[in-house]
Amino acid sequence: NWSMSDLSEELIRQLRERIGGGRVILALSGGVDSSVVAMLLHRAVGNRFIPIFVNTGLLRKNEPEEVIRTFDGLGIKIHYVDASERFFKVLDGVEDPEEKRKRIGHTFIDVFYEEAMKLRELYGDVKYLAQGTLYPDVIESKVAERKAGAKIKTHHNVGGLPENLPFEIVEPLRYLFKDEVRALGKVLGLPDSILKRHPFPGPGLAVRIIGPVTREAVVLLQEVDHIFIQELKSWGLYDQVWQAFAVLLPIKTVGVMGDYRTYENVVALRAVTSEDGMTADWAKLPHEFLNHVAKRIVNEVKGVNRVVYDITSKPPATIEWE
Ligand code: XMP
Repeated sequence: NWSMSDLSEELIRQLRERIGGGRVILALSGGVDSSVVAMLLHRAVGNRFIPIFVNTGLLRKNEPEEVIRTFDGLGIKIHYVDASERFFKVLDGVEDPEEKRKRIGHTFIDVFYEEAMKLRELYGDVKYLAQGTLYPDVIESKVAERKAGAKIKTHHNVGGLPENLPFEIVEPLRYLFKDEVRALGKVLGLPDSILKRHPFPGPGLAVRIIGPVTREAVVLLQEVDHIFIQELKSWGLYDQVWQAFAVLLPIKTVGVMGDYRTYENVVALRAVTSEDGMTADWAKLPHEFLNHVAKRIVNEVKGVNRVVYDITSKPPATIEWE
């Protein structure tokens, strides 16, 4: 009876054999895929595995700290790089969504590569680069190669690495589907906070701030998003939706607070149900819930005086707004 724990032991054995006495690095985001790879590598080669966490400055509130703490608790020490300044600099004044993606993708690769080369100088035997590529990613990039030119939206975590890297690529999940990866993660002891986490796009909050990205806009959006997610969890709704998040709109609207007229930002809340992200329905969240969340946001986040809820499905809309 071929079980997940047999699979897990077999993958660990293969990794140990392949990497041998060398060292292996990984861009660890705290998402399910890279987290499962991290667990496998840790079990396979212990501290000859070096996970690199790049803080883009575009993550959710407290995310870097939480990822570091979670892995610390699992015995895995993260090599942390704060590159947020650099990301804000390359995004300065950029409005076009694909341009944002392109710049973030390139900057991420540059930062990661520089860090990898530093580690290589420190330890001569950093020979392997692990990636959380899944079977659908393999298929998707094969299809994309075939019809290059007919681009819809670029997803920067797919096939974004430069060619002739001085590392051998290790992809322990390349024959697995997402649900199998989750099951594997469970067997390996990953907590629900990682296994049941909503998907988060590589370009992060940059594609949830319509228009130019600034540090102030990110901080504001992080606060709004945090309230929304916190409330979804406490109302028991978080696990019932595929993804939920807030979007900062580039317009201001008039409001009233006490005796004063306000002229401030609008945020949109988005929550969808979906099987795979390819199609999605807007989530019919209870009105009392939405009411409660909207009140909290307007009361607690300075600079927001209006909250709207997105009621379009995919298609024709996409899940993200950019
Ligand atoms: P859309 O907006 O295309 O999103 O309906 C479908 C799923 O993909 C995620 N997404 C991205 N993930 N890089 C990523 O890694 C990206 O550039 C990107 N754009 C969208 C989105 O969050 C949803 O889960």
